[in-house]
Amino acid sequence: MTYTLTTPLYYVNDRAHLGSTYTTIACDSIARFHRLRGELVTFITGCDEHGLKIQRSAEAAGLTPQAHCDAISGAYRDLWRRWGISHDRFIRTTDPLHRAIVEQFFARVEAAGDVIEAHQRGWYCVACEEFKEESHQEGNHQCPIHLRPLEWRDEPNLFFRLSRYQSQIERLVASDGFIAPRSRRREIENFVAGGLRDFSISRLDLPWGIPVPGHGGHTFYVWFDALLGYLSALLRPGDPPDLDLLAARGWPAQLHVIGKDILRFHAVYWPAMLLSAGLPLPERVFGHGFLTREGQKMGKSLGNVLDPEVLLERCGADAVRWYLLRDIPFGDDGDFQQQRFMDLVNNDLANTIGNLLNRTSSMARRWFEGAVPPAGPAAADHPLALHCHSCGEEVDRALERLDFRAAAAAILQLAEAANGFLNDRAPWKAIKVEAERGAVAADLYAVLETCRWVALLLAPLLPDLSARMLAQLDQPTLPGSAAAGQDPAPAESAWTAARHWGKLASGQPLPEPTPVMHRLELDSPL
Ligand code: MSP
Repeated sequence: MTYTLTTPLYYVNDRAHLGSTYTTIACDSIARFHRLRGELVTFITGCDEHGLKIQRSAEAAGLTPQAHCDAISGAYRDLWRRWGISHDRFIRTTDPLHRAIVEQFFARVEAAGDVIEAHQRGWYCVACEEFKEESHQEGNHQCPIHLRPLEWRDEPNLFFRLSRYQSQIERLVASDGFIAPRSRRREIENFVAGGLRDFSISRLDLPWGIPVPGHGGHTFYVWFDALLGYLSALLRPGDPPDLDLLAARGWPAQLHVIGKDILRFHAVYWPAMLLSAGLPLPERVFGHGFLTREGQKMGKSLGNVLDPEVLLERCGADAVRWYLLRDIPFGDDGDFQQQRFMDLVNNDLANTIGNLLNRTSSMARRWFEGAVPPAGPAAADHPLALHCHSCGEEVDRALERLDFRAAAAAILQLAEAANGFLNDRAPWKAIKVEAERGAVAADLYAVLETCRWVALLLAPLLPDLSARMLAQLDQPTLPGSAAAGQDPAPAESAWTAARHWGKLASGQPLPEPTPVMHRLELDSPL
């Protein structure tokens, strides 16, 4: 079984912000989840490097467009490396292989009779790289998202005959599971019901784009080119640029994760383009919400943008991932609040999870010769054993539906149950009674084993904390990062094999405990 998923290909007009980091972290967790289950995963990310917006950013920076793109896409790559993102592919739309794919794709679309010449008149937002059909009211030629003036365009363009795909797209968007979450379906259904209109796929006199073969002076509209990046990304080094190879390389994708603002491109334009080229459609498009900060839209003019570099430096990947995945319902808008961020990280990760492991392992070392204590006779139907198994099932179900919040909540409840158990049993008192020694051993075993489960189940969400916890229990690390090559998956993954109660071996030495999660103390705004 193979699983292909993508982030959007990020514009290189500027460096990454928290919005793109959010999408990328979410995709990273999904990719890790599927790899942990033993599936072959191709996790695609990359940069969208053509178009007027990029051309103007380069001019403003005093660089050639290529030099500008090299610098910003290099910064993206470097940032994802430091965040520990496990992508398998990083596609740049300025890659020559991509250009060849675009040309081939266009040839198919043209041969299908889906390209016509027509006149484009309308108001264009360069920041969105989109015509704004809705804002035709007299005197209000401003982008509702960017609040910047729209630009008038009046030129001959090539158009894609989207209107021919009306009924197919209607059926597609109405089908269960294609657009997720369900709440986003209505908006697209309404748009389609309004009647699909052909859309312009070329620009005249825009040098920073891929030239349209056979149509001198035209370059491809940046969105036509960018969406095809999902296809080029699948080709391996040395592969010829051949659309027919894609089926063997993981197309169609199982999942495109995007922000809600670009749902229409992915749920309407993109499938129609694929139908025209005779290629299969992606299974699902998930449109997540937008992040705000302390209730306000993040923006440069407000000076409240959260810089992922600063967040990583000051807080670390585990803390930020936990907050974003545990607190924001995936699909809804979310608000970044510094106090809540600190509270959740400190309560959940440092106290409930980190301290649990730390104090239990200290007690075990002190009273049981530095090793995992004997498990005792009735270990398998221990209440914590049952809880671990049900939590594992809950995490699987939650991550299958991309409900990170429910997965995190289930893991946290498990750790809370183990804390409650420890407090009820009070082994620090019981150990003073010699006859209780066996019971104390069994109790500590159960809690340590639960900690191992917590670490395992955290692996897709917080791979670093998970690895530190497993190391603290002297357990093997889990394979979870990007697949080196695509070897056939083993019959049972290491993750699945580890998810059995009792895998922690009694008598196994326990390493010296060190805190697995430091408290977050932020004395100034991020
Ligand atoms: N280049 C296009 C995508 C082409 S995909 C073939 C693009 N790039 S983008 O860099 O502008 O946006 C990337 C993603 O970031 C979008 O999905 C957008 O919704 C998301 N976000 C931008 N600001 C955001 C927030 N404040 N919060 C969450 N996501 C946000 O669009």
